[in-house]
Amino acid sequence: MSKYFAVDLGTSLTKISDKSRKKYLIEPTIAAIDMDSSKLVAFGSDALSAIEAKPGRVKIFKPVRHGQIEDLNLGAQIVSCVLRKAGHTKFGRSYVLVSTYGDSTKVQQRAMARSLKEAGVHEVRFLESAIAASVDLSLPIGEPVGNMIVILGAGRCEAAVLSLGSIVTSTSLAVGATDIDSSLKNHFIRKYNINVSTLLCSHLRENITRDNQDSNTHTIVGYDISSGENVSVDVRAVELWGVIDDVLSQIIQGITQVLTSTPPDITNDLCQSGVHVIGGLARLDGLEGMLANAMELPVHTYANPETHVIGGLRKSLSHFSDMTKA
Ligand SMILES: Nc1ncnc2c1ncn2[C@@H]1O[C@H](COP(=O)(O)OP(=O)(O)OP(=O)(O)O)[C@@H](O)[C@H]1O
Ligand SMILES: [Mg+2]
Repeated sequence: MSKYFAVDLGTSLTKISDKSRKKYLIEPTIAAIDMDSSKLVAFGSDALSAIEAKPGRVKIFKPVRHGQIEDLNLGAQIVSCVLRKAGHTKFGRSYVLVSTYGDSTKVQQRAMARSLKEAGVHEVRFLESAIAASVDLSLPIGEPVGNMIVILGAGRCEAAVLSLGSIVTSTSLAVGATDIDSSLKNHFIRKYNINVSTLLCSHLRENITRDNQDSNTHTIVGYDISSGENVSVDVRAVELWGVIDDVLSQIIQGITQVLTSTPPDITNDLCQSGVHVIGGLARLDGLEGMLANAMELPVHTYANPETHVIGGLRKSLSHFSDMTKA
């Protein structure tokens, strides 16, 4: 039996769907590897239980950095594993549509397609994340008007202006939510000599608010690098926003450069259609206002910003055979 699957392998979250599924399977992008054989033992939420089952022999790590997987063989094992979770069996023929970034090359895509075929996938096609998201948001990208999509994920920022069915100008930056976490972590080391877990830094980023930042404080818990003792310090929100905004300014600069290189007639269209901002980092408090100020354009945000790339891939599965091979 033939089955069509969509896969969006993100730095932090992997999303999978198939033609018949309205909902998406979302798994953390975490792999458990057997250290003896270098083979994938488990992926996603199952990865943590794998370490308990084989303590000392299984290593847990995040295989996607800045939206890219370096070990293609492992990438193929991961995609096979998520396809099985989504219902693929080795007796069926599977057709898989995978999201790509603006700067991923045909060579990388061909290598990924080859690895997936070796892992039992029948046919592979790729679709750019910005196009997939536009499909999900039902933007009129086939018409002679400009539309702009910004995808702010855990490891990457993509910005693309689309018109007449293709990308007119775009950028793909290896900067995302995880870079905010690293900047916070480095700040705590430099200023307070405290080592704070990356998990706590992500938690801070996801929960910090812009209101009352002069009076609000956050308690940071970690261990003192010199003494090794557990310590905590109260840090003002305004100081944390200073660190976060440094990373955001790189993202905003990249996005505004795309606008600068877009032909003026298309930029005029954007005054009407605005900029559609998706990806998990779009949830960051106050980001919508910052982007609207910097771009001087209307900004649209969405309730489930992580799901639009996989949503568009799923909708595009009906045109799978019309898509060009990598
Ligand atoms: N309220 C929030 N504020 C800031 N960041 C958030 C918030 N909620 C979720 N996120 C972040 O969104 C990210 C997940 O978003 P998404 O699924 O779009 O990224 P991804 O696809 O894994 O990454 P990429 O596409 O860059 O490879 C996580 O880093 C998560 O911490
Ligand atoms: Mg993503």
